Amino acid sequence: MDKMQVQGGIALQGEVKTSGAKNSVLALMFATLLAKGKHRFTNVPDLKDLESSALLLEALGCAVTREPGSIIVDVPEKISTVAEYDIVRKMRASILCLGPLLARMREAKVSLPGGCAIGARPIDLHLEAMKQMGAELTLDQGYVLAKCNGGLKGAHIIFDFATVGGTENAMMAATLADGETIIENAAKEPEIVDLADYLKKMGASIEGAGTGIIKIKGVSELRAAEHRVIADRVEAGTLIIAAAITGGEVRVTDCEPHHLDTFLKKLREAGIKMNIENRAVTVLPSRGYKGVDISTGPHPGYPTDLQAQYMALMCLCEGASMIKETVFENRFMHVQELARMNAHITVATNTATVHGRPGGLIGAPVMATDLRASACLVLAGLAAKGETTVGRIYHLDRGYEKLEDKLAKLGAKIKRVK
Ligand code: UD1
Repeated sequence: MDKMQVQGGIALQGEVKTSGAKNSVLALMFATLLAKGKHRFTNVPDLKDLESSALLLEALGCAVTREPGSIIVDVPEKISTVAEYDIVRKMRASILCLGPLLARMREAKVSLPGGCAIGARPIDLHLEAMKQMGAELTLDQGYVLAKCNGGLKGAHIIFDFATVGGTENAMMAATLADGETIIENAAKEPEIVDLADYLKKMGASIEGAGTGIIKIKGVSELRAAEHRVIADRVEAGTLIIAAAITGGEVRVTDCEPHHLDTFLKKLREAGIKMNIENRAVTVLPSRGYKGVDISTGPHPGYPTDLQAQYMALMCLCEGASMIKETVFENRFMHVQELARMNAHITVATNTATVHGRPGGLIGAPVMATDLRASACLVLAGLAAKGETTVGRIYHLDRGYEKLEDKLAKLGAKIKRVK
């Protein structure tokens, strides 16, 4: 298994480009199931999670072609409606095929994704939304069996929690339902807006994406289209912290700073100087960071996907900071690993208190437990004294496109070892 070896203490310098958003592409790939024909996406990163989605689409009968930076999904008239456990278990986002399959094929058999390291991650809200649109659902031997003989009907869905995947599934299903669907307490993430933009290019009628109320008027048919994927705000945020944590000067280009408002505000409060342009953020060399509290929340709140990376930064700030995780129940596995690097962090229920010490991290062998935790450990390694080896780095490959190459180009001493 590959490991990442990082020699800490080098201030990063230069310019680095943000890739396309993993979480957008995943939803977009499943949206293709709504219409036959060739769907083309550009600004697509090269990631393991996309391979898993491609495998599932191929198993359903689609042809998926990768070209550098783009992906083409050719969807035939007739597709299979069975998403097998073997593929779904590798990637939870596979559940996003449920809405599109139900909407176009009027039936679906999708394996329950199960939990993952960061929490139980149930799909009850997805299922409830499908039921409200008229689907009959049964659970059988780990699979959701769903059908809607007369087709899905428009419905008034009020989510208990602004679930990202649930909103995406409901929005996709509603595009081909009979009548109007209103989704209240909808997730407002930029990836929801990106998905809505593509669905509109396919001929869907959608209003309000990016707000808490989304209205969709069902149409009888959609068509394949082309789309450029938005920038990955989590990758951009990770690169910004990489610059800040090493006291470097880095321009992160091709990103959307307005997708990172809360994150950038917190960094500024912590004393990080930045120059914000329309599509770039330059981190300026600064010193004397101070601890600042955060609480994760649905967009536009502080993103849970940037919580672990922020914790690495807080370990090196002057004073204590409280990090509250409100989205996932078990997203502090990186704490134990940071402790191996001499961090001083205590956890009580969903709040971690970081007792920051400038210059306090010391390199150590550590283990990645999930995608964003692996990024956190790499960042900590960049700032620690001596060498850090991060094991189980395959987590990183699920969601970051060539992170070590990008960091190495900025001067980091980082390499992948067997
Ligand atoms: C998506 C992102 C993930 C991000 C998360 C929150 C993708 C592929 N993944 O995940 O990177 O961390 O949003 O921003 O886009 N929940 C339920 N029942 C449900 C659905 C969700 O209880 O039916 C709970 C989850 O367990 C979790 C919370 O709601 O505690 C948020 O989940 P959700 O917003 O649905 O996240 P995902 O779509 O899984």
